[in-house]
Amino acid sequence: MTEAVQTSSQFTPRVFSGIQPSGGLTLGNYLGAMKRFVDMQEEGSFETVYCMVDLHAITVWQDPDKLRHATRELCAGFIAAGIDPAKSILFNQSRVPEHAQLAWIFNCVARMGWMQRMTQFKDKAGKNAQNASLGLFAYPALMAADILVYHATHVPVGEDQKQHLELTRDIAIKFNHDYGTEFFPVTEPVIEGAATRVMSLRDGSKKMSKSDPSDASRINMTDDADTIAKKIRKAKTDPEALPSEAKGLEDRPEARNLVNIYAALADMDVDAVLRDVGGKQFSEFKPMLSDLAVAKLAPISTEMARLMQDTAEIDAILDQGATRARDIAAPILQKTYQIVGMVGA
Ligand code: AMP
Ligand code: TRP
Repeated sequence: MTEAVQTSSQFTPRVFSGIQPSGGLTLGNYLGAMKRFVDMQEEGSFETVYCMVDLHAITVWQDPDKLRHATRELCAGFIAAGIDPAKSILFNQSRVPEHAQLAWIFNCVARMGWMQRMTQFKDKAGKNAQNASLGLFAYPALMAADILVYHATHVPVGEDQKQHLELTRDIAIKFNHDYGTEFFPVTEPVIEGAATRVMSLRDGSKKMSKSDPSDASRINMTDDADTIAKKIRKAKTDPEALPSEAKGLEDRPEARNLVNIYAALADMDVDAVLRDVGGKQFSEFKPMLSDLAVAKLAPISTEMARLMQDTAEIDAILDQGATRARDIAAPILQKTYQIVGMVGA
């Protein structure tokens, strides 16, 4: 895009991010996304809006009962990880119809060619793209709507979402250009920290993912202490000792991944971790990592399990979140309809 990019400074500083309720949460979700969401909530300079994107989840098949369960469990995960429904707006996407309404407008702004370049679509559609749902193809336009229906200025995500956020910016810029307005902000991605891309424990070239067929490849937020320790003990490594500077991790993807995980869990930078553990063998480092992972994750999974015993409380939080979200989204959608020329808006 060559148009002059407007700054987003005229907009209220507001964070939006989403996670799909499409199965369990992984350590990748926690370190790459949720922990960062909590940091931004606590930082105090933003309004924070966090969403369980159930409409995105059904772009691939979801069993309805499992989807309901996963949405509530994800809400429990947000709260257990430190999202406070009094400080942040927490809700599920389908409850705020303005997301889908704005997505339709964006379907008419985004170009086929933009969508065809999306690597997540190519990965998820696989070899048989003709058989993928139309929703999977349009997924990034709905994601742009999620963000822009709140005029969000900042979006914390893991590295894998970078391309989608660039598309969100392109949609905002094209809408503003086509309609001669500065209505939508050009959102800033926030992809920061030691764990923007947590890799599989079995293969340092693959992202840790809830859809990987091997459970040993990931740490789930619901894994107990023994399971976490066992998965870390079996994690793939190389035979070398740990280096004392980050440079020494360059061609060692598995070693780098475990050090990044340690750094993110300990809230340290990688160099500081290597100053402590440089020269150690994995036989010594792995138990340190599993102790740290258990210390950080066990309280979250215990709290998730407790919250899941009272789904009425979770549903009440989601109810209240949806009402607060709609208060922001409805006027922005209405103004969009006016800009586009819809009679009665
Ligand atoms: P998803 O589960 O695909 O809806 O992803 C939710 C959030 O978690 C997004 O911000 C992703 O970028 C982030 N995320 C998912 N997997 C990883 C990973 N392996 N490393 C870092 N961030 C991740
Ligand atoms: N596409 C994101 C993912 O798979 C989830 C998502 C949907 C999202 N809408 C969003 C993330 C808006 C940030 C902002 O991880």
